[in-house]
Amino acid sequence: MYIMAKESQDEIYKMLSESGYSDKAIEYFQNKENIGFLENANQITDLTGPCGDSMKISLNIQDDRIDDAKIQVLGCPGAVASGSAVVSLAKGKSLDEAKKVDLDALYRELEKLPKQKVHCARLALKTLQKAVEQFEKKNNGNGSGKEA
Ligand code: FES
Repeated sequence: MYIMAKESQDEIYKMLSESGYSDKAIEYFQNKENIGFLENANQITDLTGPCGDSMKISLNIQDDRIDDAKIQVLGCPGAVASGSAVVSLAKGKSLDEAKKVDLDALYRELEKLPKQKVHCARLALKTLQKAVEQFEKKNNGNGSGKEA
């Protein structure tokens, strides 16, 4: 496991803070709890943004509810922070509730991102929405995650 030295974490905090990230967004970026791959996922979806960065979300959906989620991000700090926040917002939500998570909700969660990072938040949101849509399609809308 890669562990970042305290000094370099402080350096990164300073850099991100000065470029317009809120403390909460930096926390999401540095806290890797939501980052990774879910071994027991029953929906895995990836998406590449126009910038070339990409995300892969893995969800465990049971009885129409997102029980657990993680995201892998190949991208900028804005993408990592947004992906991590999207996972936090998605966990525990029903599929219908997850579909209603919008950019405003994500911004509220992140508190502040630099203006030029709006598309990173959008990519994270689209990755979640695509995953929910694919899951629903796959299960013909029964939402159970089990074979009918
Ligand atoms: Fe591509 Fe941030 S620059 S997602």
